[in-house]
Amino acid sequence: NTMLSWQRTAYHFQPEKNWMNDPNGPMYYKGWYHFFYQYNPNGPVWGDIVWGHAASKDLIHWLHLPLAMVADQWYDLNGVWTGSATLLPDGRVIMLYTGSTNESVQVQNLAYPANLSDPLLVNWEKYSGNPVLRPPPGVDLKDFRDPTTAWYTSDGKWNIAIGSKVNKTGITLIYHTEDFKSYELLDGVLHAVPGTGMWECVDFYPVSKISGKGLDTSANGPEVKHVLKTSLDNDKNDYYAIGTYDEKAGRWVPDNPKIGIELRYDYGIFYASKSFYDLHKGRRVLWGWIKESDSEIADVKKGWASVQSIPRTVLLDTKTGTNLLQWPVEEVDSLRLTSREFERVEVKAGSVVPLDIDAATQLDIFAEFELDREALEMTAQTNVEFSCSTSGGAAERGALGPFGLLVLADDSLSEQTPVYFFIVKGTDGNLKTFFCADQTRSSEATDVNKQIYGSSVPVLKDEKLSVRILVDHSIVEIFAQGGRTCITSRVYPTKAIYGAARLFLFNNATGASVTSSLKIWQMNSAFIRPFQPGQDA
Ligand code: FRU
Repeated sequence: NTMLSWQRTAYHFQPEKNWMNDPNGPMYYKGWYHFFYQYNPNGPVWGDIVWGHAASKDLIHWLHLPLAMVADQWYDLNGVWTGSATLLPDGRVIMLYTGSTNESVQVQNLAYPANLSDPLLVNWEKYSGNPVLRPPPGVDLKDFRDPTTAWYTSDGKWNIAIGSKVNKTGITLIYHTEDFKSYELLDGVLHAVPGTGMWECVDFYPVSKISGKGLDTSANGPEVKHVLKTSLDNDKNDYYAIGTYDEKAGRWVPDNPKIGIELRYDYGIFYASKSFYDLHKGRRVLWGWIKESDSEIADVKKGWASVQSIPRTVLLDTKTGTNLLQWPVEEVDSLRLTSREFERVEVKAGSVVPLDIDAATQLDIFAEFELDREALEMTAQTNVEFSCSTSGGAAERGALGPFGLLVLADDSLSEQTPVYFFIVKGTDGNLKTFFCADQTRSSEATDVNKQIYGSSVPVLKDEKLSVRILVDHSIVEIFAQGGRTCITSRVYPTKAIYGAARLFLFNNATGASVTSSLKIWQMNSAFIRPFQPGQDA
Protein backbone atom coordinates (compact mmCIF):
# COMPACT_ATOMS: atom_id res chain seq x y z
CA ASN A 1 0.00 0.00 0.00
CA THR A 2 1.93 3.02 -1.27
CA MET A 3 -0.31 5.54 0.48
CA LEU A 4 1.02 4.24 3.76
CA SER A 5 4.41 2.77 2.99
CA TRP A 6 5.90 6.04 1.73
CA GLN A 7 6.09 7.11 5.37
CA ARG A 8 8.78 4.55 6.11
CA THR A 9 12.12 6.18 6.55
CA ALA A 10 15.19 5.50 4.40
CA TYR A 11 18.04 6.21 6.79
CA HIS A 12 16.54 6.35 10.29
CA PHE A 13 16.62 3.16 12.30
CA GLN A 14 13.41 1.18 12.40
CA PRO A 15 12.55 -2.53 12.54
CA GLU A 16 11.04 -4.17 9.46
CA LYS A 17 7.60 -4.14 11.07
CA ASN A 18 5.69 -3.77 14.36
CA TRP A 19 6.11 -1.55 17.38
CA MET A 20 9.35 -0.10 18.78
CA ASN A 21 9.99 2.20 21.73
CA ASP A 22 13.02 3.02 23.89
CA PRO A 23 16.64 2.63 22.80
CA ASN A 24 18.37 0.07 25.05
CA GLY A 25 21.95 -0.88 25.89
CA PRO A 26 23.82 0.93 23.10
CA MET A 27 27.55 0.16 23.01
CA TYR A 28 30.59 -0.38 20.83
CA TYR A 29 32.03 -3.88 21.03
CA LYS A 30 34.80 -5.51 18.99
CA GLY A 31 34.29 -3.40 15.87
CA TRP A 32 30.50 -3.24 15.97
CA TYR A 33 28.01 -0.77 17.33
CA HIS A 34 25.15 -2.54 19.06
CA PHE A 35 21.68 -1.20 19.35
CA PHE A 36 18.87 -2.84 21.29
CA TYR A 37 15.33 -1.55 21.53
CA GLN A 38 11.97 -2.13 23.14
CA TYR A 39 10.04 -4.18 20.60
CA ASN A 40 6.65 -5.81 20.24
CA PRO A 41 7.13 -8.80 17.90
CA ASN A 42 3.36 -9.29 17.70
CA GLY A 43 2.01 -5.98 16.43
CA PRO A 44 2.36 -2.25 15.81
CA VAL A 45 1.17 -1.15 19.28
CA TRP A 46 2.92 -1.26 22.67
CA GLY A 47 2.82 -4.63 24.48
CA ASP A 48 4.57 -8.03 24.76
CA ILE A 49 7.87 -6.18 25.03
CA VAL A 50 11.14 -7.95 24.21
CA TRP A 51 14.58 -6.71 23.15
CA GLY A 52 15.19 -6.19 19.44
CA HIS A 53 18.82 -6.10 18.37
CA ALA A 54 20.81 -4.67 15.46
CA ALA A 55 24.49 -4.11 14.75
CA SER A 56 26.36 -1.66 12.56
CA LYS A 57 29.93 -0.66 11.76
CA ASP A 58 29.07 3.01 11.46
CA LEU A 59 25.87 3.79 13.44
CA ILE A 60 23.97 4.20 10.13
CA HIS A 61 24.00 0.97 8.11
CA TRP A 62 22.25 -1.41 10.49
CA LEU A 63 21.76 -5.13 10.21
CA HIS A 64 18.87 -6.68 12.08
CA LEU A 65 19.87 -9.55 14.37
CA PRO A 66 17.70 -12.10 16.20
CA LEU A 67 15.84 -10.88 19.31
CA ALA A 68 18.37 -10.54 22.13
CA MET A 69 16.04 -11.28 25.05
CA VAL A 70 12.45 -12.47 25.26
CA ALA A 71 9.98 -12.64 28.15
CA ASP A 72 10.70 -16.19 29.30
CA GLN A 73 11.28 -15.90 33.07
CA TRP A 74 8.88 -15.12 35.93
CA TYR A 75 10.87 -11.95 36.61
CA ASP A 76 10.32 -10.52 33.08
CA LEU A 77 7.16 -12.34 31.99
CA ASN A 78 5.23 -9.09 31.54
CA GLY A 79 8.02 -7.46 29.61
CA VAL A 80 11.76 -7.21 29.09
CA TRP A 81 11.90 -3.49 29.68
CA THR A 82 14.51 -0.79 29.34
CA GLY A 83 18.14 -1.20 30.36
CA SER A 84 21.73 -0.17 29.78
CA ALA A 85 25.11 -1.72 29.05
CA THR A 86 28.32 -1.33 31.00
CA LEU A 87 31.68 -2.41 29.57
CA LEU A 88 33.97 -3.56 32.38
CA PRO A 89 37.74 -2.95 32.21
CA ASP A 90 38.35 -6.72 32.11
CA GLY A 91 36.35 -7.03 28.88
CA ARG A 92 33.10 -8.30 30.33
CA VAL A 93 29.77 -6.83 29.26
CA ILE A 94 27.10 -6.16 31.86
CA MET A 95 23.49 -5.64 30.80
CA LEU A 96 21.06 -4.45 33.45
CA TYR A 97 17.39 -4.19 32.54
CA THR A 98 13.99 -3.86 34.14
CA GLY A 99 11.73 -6.87 34.17
CA SER A 100 8.03 -6.55 34.69
CA THR A 101 7.36 -9.74 36.63
CA ASN A 102 4.50 -12.24 36.34
CA GLU A 103 2.79 -9.99 38.92
CA SER A 104 3.79 -6.75 37.13
CA VAL A 105 6.32 -5.79 39.80
CA GLN A 106 9.27 -3.84 38.45
CA VAL A 107 12.59 -5.51 39.26
CA GLN A 108 16.13 -5.15 37.89
CA ASN A 109 17.82 -8.07 36.18
CA LEU A 110 21.31 -8.89 35.06
CA ALA A 111 22.18 -10.40 31.68
CA TYR A 112 25.42 -10.94 29.79
CA PRO A 113 26.59 -12.16 26.39
CA ALA A 114 26.72 -15.96 26.17
CA ASN A 115 29.86 -15.74 24.08
CA LEU A 116 32.20 -12.78 24.50
CA SER A 117 34.23 -13.79 21.47
CA ASP A 118 31.23 -13.25 19.18
CA PRO A 119 31.48 -9.60 18.06
CA LEU A 120 27.81 -9.68 17.08
CA LEU A 121 26.78 -10.68 20.63
CA VAL A 122 23.90 -12.69 19.25
CA ASN A 123 23.14 -14.81 22.32
CA TRP A 124 22.34 -13.46 25.76
CA GLU A 125 22.14 -15.23 29.10
CA LYS A 126 20.12 -14.13 32.07
CA TYR A 127 21.78 -14.44 35.48
CA SER A 128 20.46 -17.38 37.51
CA GLY A 129 20.17 -15.20 40.63
CA ASN A 130 17.73 -12.70 39.03
CA PRO A 131 16.18 -10.42 40.03
CA VAL A 132 19.14 -8.53 41.47
CA LEU A 133 17.02 -5.64 42.74
CA ARG A 134 13.44 -5.28 43.96
CA PRO A 135 11.65 -2.01 44.73
CA PRO A 136 12.96 -0.63 48.05
CA PRO A 137 10.62 0.18 50.96
CA GLY A 138 8.63 3.36 50.33
CA VAL A 139 8.62 2.96 46.55
CA ASP A 140 5.58 1.68 44.69
CA LEU A 141 6.11 -1.73 43.07
CA LYS A 142 5.43 -0.17 39.66
CA ASP A 143 7.71 2.86 40.02
CA PHE A 144 11.16 1.35 39.83
CA ARG A 145 12.72 1.05 36.41
CA ASP A 146 15.31 1.68 33.71
CA PRO A 147 18.80 1.21 35.23
CA THR A 148 21.62 3.36 33.79
CA THR A 149 25.09 2.46 32.63
CA ALA A 150 27.32 2.04 35.72
CA TRP A 151 30.13 4.43 36.61
CA TYR A 152 33.26 3.60 38.53
CA THR A 153 33.56 5.08 42.03
CA SER A 154 36.59 6.16 44.05
CA ASP A 155 36.39 3.07 46.29
CA GLY A 156 36.84 0.80 43.28
CA LYS A 157 33.19 -0.21 43.04
CA TRP A 158 30.34 0.86 40.74
CA ASN A 159 27.23 3.01 40.96
CA ILE A 160 24.07 2.77 38.91
CA ALA A 161 21.06 5.10 38.92
CA ILE A 162 17.41 4.08 38.77
CA GLY A 163 14.44 6.40 38.32
CA SER A 164 11.41 6.36 40.59
CA LYS A 165 8.94 8.58 42.40
CA VAL A 166 7.68 9.09 45.93
CA ASN A 167 4.23 10.66 46.02
CA LYS A 168 4.53 13.16 43.18
CA THR A 169 8.25 13.79 43.56
CA GLY A 170 10.43 12.36 40.80
CA ILE A 171 13.66 10.88 42.18
CA THR A 172 16.88 9.15 41.17
CA LEU A 173 18.10 6.36 43.42
CA ILE A 174 21.76 5.31 43.48
CA TYR A 175 22.85 1.73 44.03
CA HIS A 176 26.40 0.74 44.85
CA THR A 177 27.85 -2.61 43.76
CA GLU A 178 31.04 -4.55 43.30
CA ASP A 179 29.80 -7.49 41.24
CA PHE A 180 26.46 -6.33 39.75
CA LYS A 181 24.76 -9.13 41.67
CA SER A 182 24.37 -7.61 45.12
CA TYR A 183 23.71 -3.94 45.70
CA GLU A 184 23.56 -1.38 48.45
CA LEU A 185 21.04 1.48 48.21
CA LEU A 186 22.86 4.72 49.04
CA ASP A 187 21.28 7.10 51.54
CA GLY A 188 19.16 9.89 50.13
CA VAL A 189 18.73 10.43 46.41
CA LEU A 190 21.00 11.75 43.66
CA HIS A 191 18.36 14.36 42.92
CA ALA A 192 14.62 14.92 43.35
CA VAL A 193 12.14 17.39 41.85
CA PRO A 194 8.72 17.77 43.50
CA GLY A 195 5.70 17.59 41.21
CA THR A 196 7.43 15.91 38.27
CA GLY A 197 6.07 12.40 38.82
CA MET A 198 7.73 9.19 37.70
CA TRP A 199 11.24 9.54 36.27
CA GLU A 200 11.69 7.08 33.44
CA CYS A 201 14.91 6.30 31.61
CA VAL A 202 17.20 8.45 33.76
CA ASP A 203 20.57 9.13 32.13
CA PHE A 204 23.56 10.48 34.05
CA TYR A 205 26.88 11.28 32.39
CA PRO A 206 29.88 13.60 32.41
CA VAL A 207 30.62 16.29 29.81
CA SER A 208 33.90 18.16 29.44
CA LYS A 209 34.10 21.86 30.27
CA ILE A 210 37.08 22.35 27.99
CA SER A 211 37.49 19.78 25.24
CA GLY A 212 35.25 18.93 22.35
CA LYS A 213 35.56 15.25 23.23
CA GLY A 214 33.01 12.98 24.78
CA LEU A 215 33.75 11.40 28.15
CA ASP A 216 33.55 7.87 29.46
CA THR A 217 30.65 7.52 31.89
CA SER A 218 33.14 7.10 34.77
CA ALA A 219 35.08 10.33 34.08
CA ASN A 220 35.08 12.91 36.85
CA GLY A 221 37.18 15.83 38.09
CA PRO A 222 37.40 19.63 38.06
CA GLU A 223 37.07 19.88 34.28
CA VAL A 224 33.88 17.87 34.23
CA LYS A 225 30.20 18.74 34.53
CA HIS A 226 27.46 16.16 34.91
CA VAL A 227 24.24 15.99 32.96
CA LEU A 228 21.14 14.51 34.56
CA LYS A 229 18.34 13.61 32.17
CA THR A 230 14.90 12.37 33.07
CA SER A 231 12.05 11.24 30.85
CA LEU A 232 8.86 12.52 32.42
CA ASP A 233 6.08 9.98 32.24
CA ASN A 234 3.63 12.88 32.86
CA ASP A 235 4.26 14.74 29.62
CA LYS A 236 6.46 12.33 27.63
CA ASN A 237 9.38 14.69 27.13
CA ASP A 238 13.07 14.38 27.97
CA TYR A 239 14.43 17.07 30.27
CA TYR A 240 18.02 17.72 31.26
CA ALA A 241 20.17 20.05 33.29
CA ILE A 242 23.89 20.58 33.63
CA GLY A 243 25.25 20.41 37.15
CA THR A 244 27.89 19.25 39.57
CA TYR A 245 28.20 15.74 40.92
CA ASP A 246 29.62 15.13 44.37
CA GLU A 247 30.40 11.43 44.41
CA LYS A 248 31.20 11.26 48.15
CA ALA A 249 27.93 12.92 49.10
CA GLY A 250 26.02 11.02 46.43
CA ARG A 251 24.39 14.24 45.26
CA TRP A 252 24.06 16.14 42.02
CA VAL A 253 23.21 19.85 42.06
CA PRO A 254 22.02 21.73 38.98
CA ASP A 255 24.07 24.81 37.99
CA ASN A 256 20.96 26.91 37.86
CA PRO A 257 18.76 25.81 40.77
CA LYS A 258 16.09 28.30 39.72
CA ILE A 259 15.30 26.53 36.49
CA GLY A 260 15.90 23.02 37.85
CA ILE A 261 15.72 20.35 35.16
CA GLU A 262 13.97 22.34 32.49
CA LEU A 263 15.90 22.19 29.23
CA ARG A 264 14.71 19.77 26.62
CA TYR A 265 16.89 17.64 24.38
CA ASP A 266 14.34 18.23 21.70
CA TYR A 267 11.24 20.41 21.49
CA GLY A 268 9.39 18.02 19.18
CA ILE A 269 8.99 14.27 19.67
CA PHE A 270 11.96 12.66 21.38
CA TYR A 271 11.61 10.44 24.42
CA ALA A 272 13.20 7.79 26.63
CA SER A 273 16.60 8.68 25.20
CA LYS A 274 19.87 7.06 26.18
CA SER A 275 23.49 8.05 25.61
CA PHE A 276 26.61 5.91 25.54
CA TYR A 277 30.32 6.54 25.41
CA ASP A 278 31.72 5.45 22.04
CA LEU A 279 35.25 4.38 22.91
CA HIS A 280 35.98 3.84 19.21
CA LYS A 281 35.69 7.53 18.37
CA GLY A 282 35.95 9.15 21.81
CA ARG A 283 32.50 10.69 21.72
CA ARG A 284 29.20 10.49 23.57
CA VAL A 285 26.33 9.44 21.35
CA LEU A 286 22.65 9.99 22.12
CA TRP A 287 19.68 8.01 20.82
CA GLY A 288 16.02 8.94 21.26
CA TRP A 289 12.74 7.17 20.57
CA ILE A 290 10.57 9.05 18.08
CA LYS A 291 7.02 7.82 18.15
CA GLU A 292 4.31 8.34 15.58
CA SER A 293 2.06 11.36 15.78
CA ASP A 294 -0.70 9.91 13.63
CA SER A 295 -3.50 7.70 14.98
CA GLU A 296 -3.14 4.18 16.29
CA ILE A 297 -5.54 3.04 13.56
CA ALA A 298 -3.10 4.39 10.97
CA ASP A 299 -0.23 2.54 12.69
CA VAL A 300 -2.16 -0.70 12.58
CA LYS A 301 -2.84 -0.15 8.87
CA LYS A 302 0.77 0.52 8.03
CA GLY A 303 1.98 -2.31 10.28
CA TRP A 304 4.70 -0.43 12.11
CA ALA A 305 5.18 2.37 14.60
CA SER A 306 8.15 4.50 15.67
CA VAL A 307 11.62 5.31 14.44
CA GLN A 308 14.81 6.16 16.29
CA SER A 309 16.47 9.55 16.01
CA ILE A 310 19.66 9.84 14.03
CA PRO A 311 22.37 9.10 16.61
CA ARG A 312 23.62 12.46 17.87
CA THR A 313 26.94 13.44 19.38
CA VAL A 314 26.36 15.35 22.58
CA LEU A 315 28.74 17.91 24.07
CA LEU A 316 28.61 20.77 26.52
CA ASP A 317 28.27 24.06 24.63
CA THR A 318 31.45 25.67 25.96
CA LYS A 319 30.50 29.01 24.36
CA THR A 320 27.32 29.44 26.39
CA GLY A 321 28.06 26.98 29.21
CA THR A 322 24.32 26.69 29.75
CA ASN A 323 23.21 24.05 27.26
CA LEU A 324 24.28 20.95 25.38
CA LEU A 325 25.07 20.75 21.68
CA GLN A 326 23.60 17.88 19.71
CA TRP A 327 24.66 17.09 16.18
CA PRO A 328 24.11 14.12 13.83
CA VAL A 329 27.08 11.72 14.06
CA GLU A 330 29.58 12.44 11.28
CA GLU A 331 28.86 9.07 9.63
CA VAL A 332 25.53 10.51 8.44
CA ASP A 333 27.57 12.52 5.92
CA SER A 334 28.49 9.27 4.16
CA LEU A 335 24.89 9.07 2.94
CA ARG A 336 25.21 12.35 1.06
CA LEU A 337 24.83 11.98 -2.72
CA THR A 338 24.62 14.95 -5.07
CA SER A 339 24.39 18.44 -3.67
CA ARG A 340 23.17 21.87 -4.74
CA GLU A 341 24.47 25.13 -3.38
CA PHE A 342 22.60 28.41 -3.24
CA GLU A 343 24.59 31.56 -2.47
CA ARG A 344 23.04 34.58 -0.83
CA VAL A 345 19.48 34.13 -2.03
CA GLU A 346 17.43 37.19 -1.19
CA VAL A 347 14.07 36.44 0.38
CA LYS A 348 12.07 39.65 0.54
CA ALA A 349 9.54 40.34 3.25
CA GLY A 350 6.37 38.40 2.54
CA SER A 351 7.82 36.12 -0.14
CA VAL A 352 8.32 32.44 -0.90
CA VAL A 353 11.29 31.31 -3.06
CA PRO A 354 11.32 27.79 -4.57
CA LEU A 355 14.61 25.91 -4.36
CA ASP A 356 15.31 24.00 -7.52
CA ILE A 357 16.41 20.56 -6.33
CA ASP A 358 15.31 17.15 -7.58
CA ALA A 359 13.47 15.00 -5.09
CA ALA A 360 12.83 16.52 -1.67
CA THR A 361 11.99 13.58 0.59
CA GLN A 362 15.52 12.43 1.60
CA LEU A 363 17.60 15.51 2.28
CA ASP A 364 20.35 16.91 4.43
CA ILE A 365 20.01 20.71 4.43
CA PHE A 366 22.39 23.25 5.88
CA ALA A 367 21.13 26.83 5.75
CA GLU A 368 22.38 30.16 7.05
CA PHE A 369 20.31 33.30 7.35
CA GLU A 370 21.23 36.95 7.64
CA LEU A 371 18.87 39.81 8.27
CA ASP A 372 19.70 43.22 6.87
CA ARG A 373 21.38 45.26 9.57
CA GLU A 374 18.89 48.06 9.32
CA ALA A 375 16.09 45.70 10.12
CA LEU A 376 17.90 44.40 13.17
CA GLU A 377 18.44 47.93 14.42
CA MET A 378 14.95 49.14 13.74
CA THR A 379 12.48 48.83 16.54
CA ALA A 380 11.37 45.26 16.51
CA GLN A 381 8.05 44.56 18.06
CA THR A 382 8.18 43.95 21.77
CA ASN A 383 6.81 40.58 22.64
CA VAL A 384 7.94 39.10 25.92
CA GLU A 385 5.22 36.50 25.76
CA PHE A 386 6.22 34.86 22.47
CA SER A 387 6.16 31.10 22.46
CA CYS A 388 6.20 28.90 19.36
CA SER A 389 3.42 26.63 20.55
CA THR A 390 0.91 29.38 21.38
CA SER A 391 1.84 31.62 18.44
CA GLY A 392 0.03 31.78 15.14
CA GLY A 393 2.80 29.69 13.58
CA ALA A 394 4.47 30.54 10.28
CA ALA A 395 1.39 32.47 9.18
CA GLU A 396 1.82 35.03 11.94
CA ARG A 397 3.76 38.10 10.79
CA GLY A 398 6.24 39.94 12.96
CA ALA A 399 8.81 42.65 12.27
CA LEU A 400 11.70 40.16 12.37
CA GLY A 401 10.15 36.85 11.46
CA PRO A 402 9.15 34.22 10.78
CA PHE A 403 11.69 33.24 8.10
CA GLY A 404 13.16 29.89 7.19
CA LEU A 405 12.29 26.88 5.05
CA LEU A 406 9.15 25.08 3.97
CA VAL A 407 9.96 21.37 3.88
CA LEU A 408 7.80 18.53 2.56
CA ALA A 409 5.65 21.04 0.71
CA ASP A 410 3.66 20.48 -2.45
CA ASP A 411 3.66 22.87 -5.44
CA SER A 412 0.53 24.66 -4.33
CA LEU A 413 1.76 24.93 -0.72
CA SER A 414 -1.46 23.33 0.48
CA GLU A 415 0.83 21.07 2.48
CA GLN A 416 4.01 22.42 4.05
CA THR A 417 6.03 22.14 7.23
CA PRO A 418 7.65 25.51 7.96
CA VAL A 419 10.81 25.50 10.09
CA TYR A 420 11.82 28.99 11.01
CA PHE A 421 13.43 31.62 13.16
CA PHE A 422 11.38 34.34 14.83
CA ILE A 423 13.13 37.23 16.54
CA VAL A 424 11.33 39.35 19.09
CA LYS A 425 12.37 42.15 21.38
CA GLY A 426 11.98 41.65 25.10
CA THR A 427 10.91 44.46 27.45
CA ASP A 428 14.60 44.76 28.41
CA GLY A 429 15.28 45.90 24.85
CA ASN A 430 17.25 42.78 23.96
CA LEU A 431 16.47 40.66 20.96
CA LYS A 432 15.50 37.07 21.61
CA THR A 433 15.58 34.40 18.92
CA PHE A 434 13.08 31.57 18.74
CA PHE A 435 13.19 28.50 16.58
CA CYS A 436 9.95 26.73 15.66
CA ALA A 437 8.47 23.97 13.48
CA ASP A 438 4.85 24.48 12.47
CA GLN A 439 2.87 21.34 11.70
CA THR A 440 -0.53 23.03 11.32
CA ARG A 441 -0.44 22.71 7.51
CA SER A 442 1.81 19.65 7.34
CA SER A 443 -0.90 17.32 6.11
CA GLU A 444 -4.42 17.28 4.76
CA ALA A 445 -5.01 14.21 6.90
CA THR A 446 -7.05 14.98 10.00
CA ASP A 447 -5.86 12.23 12.33
CA VAL A 448 -2.35 13.65 12.80
CA ASN A 449 -0.74 15.96 15.33
CA LYS A 450 -0.69 19.58 14.14
CA GLN A 451 1.09 21.33 16.98
CA ILE A 452 3.65 24.07 16.64
CA TYR A 453 6.90 23.04 18.30
CA GLY A 454 9.83 25.13 19.38
CA SER A 455 11.75 27.17 21.92
CA SER A 456 14.21 30.01 22.22
CA VAL A 457 17.72 29.44 20.92
CA PRO A 458 20.86 31.17 22.21
CA VAL A 459 22.52 33.29 19.50
CA LEU A 460 25.84 34.91 20.39
CA LYS A 461 27.12 38.22 19.08
CA ASP A 462 28.25 38.06 15.43
CA GLU A 463 26.89 34.56 14.92
CA LYS A 464 24.86 33.90 11.80
CA LEU A 465 21.58 32.10 12.24
CA SER A 466 21.98 28.54 11.02
CA VAL A 467 20.05 25.34 10.85
CA ARG A 468 20.63 21.77 9.73
CA ILE A 469 17.59 19.73 8.72
CA LEU A 470 17.41 16.01 8.04
CA VAL A 471 14.34 15.17 5.99
CA ASP A 472 13.49 11.49 5.71
CA HIS A 473 9.93 10.93 4.37
CA SER A 474 7.86 11.26 7.57
CA ILE A 475 10.53 12.68 9.84
CA VAL A 476 12.07 16.14 9.96
CA GLU A 477 14.95 16.35 12.43
CA ILE A 478 16.20 19.86 13.01
CA PHE A 479 19.35 21.21 14.69
CA ALA A 480 19.33 24.98 15.11
CA GLN A 481 22.42 27.05 15.87
CA GLY A 482 24.86 24.14 15.89
CA GLY A 483 22.50 21.94 17.91
CA ARG A 484 21.63 24.28 20.78
CA THR A 485 17.94 23.81 20.10
CA CYS A 486 16.61 20.71 18.37
CA ILE A 487 13.15 19.88 17.07
CA THR A 488 11.99 16.54 15.70
CA SER A 489 8.69 16.43 13.83
CA ARG A 490 6.80 13.47 12.44
CA VAL A 491 4.71 14.69 9.55
CA TYR A 492 2.33 12.82 7.25
CA PRO A 493 1.73 14.78 4.07
CA THR A 494 -0.68 13.22 1.61
CA LYS A 495 0.38 15.21 -1.47
CA ALA A 496 3.93 16.33 -0.73
CA ILE A 497 5.32 12.83 -1.13
CA TYR A 498 7.89 11.19 -3.44
CA GLY A 499 8.42 13.28 -6.59
CA ALA A 500 5.76 15.79 -5.58
CA ALA A 501 7.62 17.01 -2.50
CA ARG A 502 9.26 20.43 -2.81
CA LEU A 503 11.47 22.73 -0.79
CA PHE A 504 11.06 26.51 -0.44
CA LEU A 505 12.60 29.42 1.39
CA PHE A 506 10.11 31.78 2.99
CA ASN A 507 10.11 35.05 4.82
CA ASN A 508 6.90 36.19 6.41
CA ALA A 509 8.37 39.15 8.27
CA THR A 510 6.66 42.47 7.63
CA GLY A 511 9.74 44.60 7.10
CA ALA A 512 13.02 42.74 7.14
CA SER A 513 14.58 41.22 4.07
CA VAL A 514 16.56 38.01 4.62
CA THR A 515 19.52 36.54 2.77
CA SER A 516 20.07 32.81 2.86
CA SER A 517 22.93 30.57 1.75
CA LEU A 518 22.28 26.87 1.58
CA LYS A 519 23.84 23.55 0.74
CA ILE A 520 21.40 20.71 0.14
CA TRP A 521 22.32 17.07 -0.31
CA GLN A 522 20.20 14.24 -1.61
CA MET A 523 20.53 11.42 0.91
CA ASN A 524 21.04 7.77 0.10
CA SER A 525 19.09 5.05 1.83
CA ALA A 526 20.92 3.23 4.65
CA PHE A 527 19.52 -0.11 3.38
CA ILE A 528 18.79 -1.35 6.90
CA ARG A 529 18.13 -5.06 6.52
CA PRO A 530 18.45 -8.45 8.19
CA PHE A 531 21.93 -9.79 8.78
CA GLN A 532 23.00 -12.63 6.50
CA PRO A 533 25.65 -14.96 7.93
CA GLY A 534 29.05 -14.33 6.39
CA GLN A 535 28.13 -10.78 5.47
CA ASP A 536 30.06 -7.68 6.40
CA ALA A 537 28.23 -4.37 6.70
C1 FRU B 1 9.66 4.44 28.65
C2 FRU B 1 9.24 3.13 29.28
C3 FRU B 1 10.21 2.67 30.33
C4 FRU B 1 9.98 1.19 30.38
C5 FRU B 1 9.70 0.87 28.93
C6 FRU B 1 8.71 -0.23 28.72
O1 FRU B 1 9.08 4.63 27.40
O2 FRU B 1 7.93 3.25 29.83
O3 FRU B 1 10.07 3.31 31.57
O4 FRU B 1 11.08 0.49 30.87
O5 FRU B 1 9.23 2.06 28.34
O6 FRU B 1 8.57 -0.52 27.35
